[in-house]
Amino acid sequence: MMLVRALGLSVLVLLSACAPIVAADAERPLKPKTGAVASAHPLATEAGLEIMSRGGNAFDAAIAVSAALGVVEPYSSGFGGGGFYLLHRVSDNLYTMVDGREKAPLSASRDMYLDADGNPIPRLAKDGVLAAGIPGMPAALVHLSQKYGKLPLATSLEPAIRYAREGFEVDKRFIAGVTFKKDLLKTSMAADVFLLNGEAPPPGHIIKQPLLAKTIERFATGGLDGFYKGKTAKRIIKGVNEAGGDWSQADFDQYTVVEREPIYGTYRGSRIISAPPPSSGGVAIIDALNILEPYNIHEVDGVRRKHLVVEALRRAFRDRAQFLGDPDFVDVPTERLTHKFYADGQRASIRLDRATSSDSLPGFQPEDEGQHTTHFSVLDADGNRVGGTQTINFWFGGGYMVPGVGMLLNNEMDDFSIKPGVPNGYGLVGAGANEIQPGKRMLSSMTPTFVESDLGVAILGTPGGSRIISMVLLGVLERIDGANAEQISAKPRYHHQYLPDSITYESDAFSAEEVQGLQDLGHTLKESSRKYGNMNTITWDYAGNKVISGADPRGVGLAKIRVY
Ligand code: DON
Repeated sequence: MMLVRALGLSVLVLLSACAPIVAADAERPLKPKTGAVASAHPLATEAGLEIMSRGGNAFDAAIAVSAALGVVEPYSSGFGGGGFYLLHRVSDNLYTMVDGREKAPLSASRDMYLDADGNPIPRLAKDGVLAAGIPGMPAALVHLSQKYGKLPLATSLEPAIRYAREGFEVDKRFIAGVTFKKDLLKTSMAADVFLLNGEAPPPGHIIKQPLLAKTIERFATGGLDGFYKGKTAKRIIKGVNEAGGDWSQADFDQYTVVEREPIYGTYRGSRIISAPPPSSGGVAIIDALNILEPYNIHEVDGVRRKHLVVEALRRAFRDRAQFLGDPDFVDVPTERLTHKFYADGQRASIRLDRATSSDSLPGFQPEDEGQHTTHFSVLDADGNRVGGTQTINFWFGGGYMVPGVGMLLNNEMDDFSIKPGVPNGYGLVGAGANEIQPGKRMLSSMTPTFVESDLGVAILGTPGGSRIISMVLLGVLERIDGANAEQISAKPRYHHQYLPDSITYESDAFSAEEVQGLQDLGHTLKESSRKYGNMNTITWDYAGNKVISGADPRGVGLAKIRVY
């Protein structure tokens, strides 16, 4: 507070100034009594509801949704990729994150994507088997089932196996992705599964994946060994090595899921629970919220609010580049970066009348947008929650489908910093903390998050590479303003990530006056040519004990409520 005063901000923050309608404590329901699932694909949402109706809890349902997404959204995530699962279990008030992020293979080395002159070899970290990390999603699902589920793993995986065997109908999103990545898919047997005569299939075409069905069945019955040992592991190792990679059984033996303590923060009376490293999201969001807290951005005009959010993001992303990496390999100063005093220091360089130039910040560029990944939210009638974000990185990962396994491998290696200061596919820069080492997890932006306040609870997250962080931050701020799941998912978006020093925005995110106002402050603005993100959200409001499930209108997902 003193610092704020020293900055000359005469109007001090009234933490109660932002006060959505809330239920009095006496009226606060203990359980939602309603379940809900929101995911990026209707069949995945139905899979979750099916498992709930068969007696499963939120964790069983999350396994069903996660696995189904891996089958019906093969461009976004899958068994050849990884994910983060943020959990809340009501019975013992547990909060944890199951980290099923991929790991660098043991043969990986710091400069593996550089040529003899030390220059990055184009696309080596993006396409084919050299771009892949050791998959983590199967291990995460087994872990979720064994430790948190009520039903056998094989039951929770039934819908996914069925979708793989009987097929799913392609939709416009699938067709767009296949059209975009046709040439990459033709580099492996993926073309036989996803293309029709070498072209994107027409709407309504059914894609069957019998090999994948068998692969899922093997770990449905065999558990961890059903994927990381035996037939599946052997076939993956053979396929990868024949395609020019260097994997061995030791890579699969060293893969373990890690449960990590989430990142906690507070903001104007709300509690935020989010993804810890190796996600950069939780740290960045709590840091940004801490920077923003003393400004009452909930009661200022649009230009000032957006200016301050951008300045907070600029500083949080700068620290991402500098400090964040796999906490099993590097010391991430999480406590410091999420401390209110640290934010006080960062706030000191923010001016209300002018944009900061990123170059003027201590320390430390972009292109492609709209690659893939997927987020789902689950709530059960007891109030157990799962926020899951999972990925194979870009559309169809590295495009390599393993023979005999029918599963695409990820291209997550591009999330490492392949050379200090060289931007990855999301324009993100990094340094030593996120350099490649054997067995290390690459830094992620995936940010499944819970918001708890007097209003109730929200579960949110989204794909979108580096933009995940700004989307989740905006979602949290909307929730603080009282928005429900549908409103949060639909809200127009804008983004800043320190470098490049410009604001990207959806066309309807700013009014003409706001565009002008932000430019007058010295910001560079770039209107995005399309919408981005796919935020699938659930809110449970204590007032009226109301659960709302919201699928992102930009996508083809489905949000549903289950009444018991
Ligand atoms: O883990 C990460 O940060 C990225 N691999 C996520 C990729 C992503 O969100 C692509 N989405 N459009």
